[in-house]
Amino acid sequence: MTVEQTVRLTQFASGGGCACKVPPGELEAVLGALAPAGDTGHELLVGLESGDDAAVVRLDGDRAVVTTADFFTPVVDDAYDWGRIAAANALSDVYAMGGTPLVAVNLLCWPRDRIPFELAAEVLRGGSDIARRARCHVAGGHSIDDPEPKYGMAVTGVAHPDRLLRNDAALAGLPLTLTKPLGLGVLNNRHKATGEWFEEAVAVMTQLNGPAAAAALDLGIRAGTDVTGFGLLGHLYKMVRASGVTAVVDAAAVPYVAGAREALRDGYVPGGSRRNLDWVRPHLESSVDEDELLLLADAQTSGGLLLVGEVPGHPVVGELVPAGLSPLVVR
Ligand code: CO
Ligand code: CO
Repeated sequence: MTVEQTVRLTQFASGGGCACKVPPGELEAVLGALAPAGDTGHELLVGLESGDDAAVVRLDGDRAVVTTADFFTPVVDDAYDWGRIAAANALSDVYAMGGTPLVAVNLLCWPRDRIPFELAAEVLRGGSDIARRARCHVAGGHSIDDPEPKYGMAVTGVAHPDRLLRNDAALAGLPLTLTKPLGLGVLNNRHKATGEWFEEAVAVMTQLNGPAAAAALDLGIRAGTDVTGFGLLGHLYKMVRASGVTAVVDAAAVPYVAGAREALRDGYVPGGSRRNLDWVRPHLESSVDEDELLLLADAQTSGGLLLVGEVPGHPVVGELVPAGLSPLVVR
């Protein structure tokens, strides 16, 4: 932080990061009613149906365009760190499709009469530092005056049409790998309430998913997603539903950021995390307690990749089996 910051940015947010996402069920009902564009001359390889991370359009035999946008209210008080987290999170949806980001544009909403604009500059500086690390251009964007600050990016990337990490390509018999620890939702919730600072959580949220995605593609992995606002259970449910398989999660194998269990125990649970669990519960068979399920459904911000296959250096947190009575099993 180079600008002296006395403002607590999280106090301007009514929601919390990816935890401020519109509930999944509501969103799907609205999106399902929209008419597709039909034949545009370019095949839509990944659209709305599978609830995937980004849209993918084929250019030719070996090139596809990947496009996505993501922005949210402050998840941490520090302007520069919030910018870095939001950018890493927006870039993640390109990586989560197997793409390489090429160019991003900033999306900024700022209450100019309530928060000094110098802090917006810090947010943008954080975003641009992360984009540089991702070797992705940042070229312009759009900003509006808004009573609630919001920041993120629209990102465009390229991918090979046959080397995508899809939601609908998960196969039974393969292990599930998770590349970042969970617990970011409960820790951000605690930070917002108390101002306590969680250094490991910030380090995890600003870490790019690019290297993990590249390793997965090199290993021949073709199915995966990133774990963000719908939590591990929500994103996993979307994947197994799109692929017609069942996931068995080994709760004891799932890693957590230090302090996550204590934050849950002390009652710091984002509303989004409870909504995620409510959403997947009808599709869930579990032998673990409610707290464990809440942690597994915790709404993440800039979480890791959930990959169908084994990636050395990252924990296997479960496996896929042929479709059973429940699409999700936790034990
Ligand atoms: Co995503
Ligand atoms: Co996203």
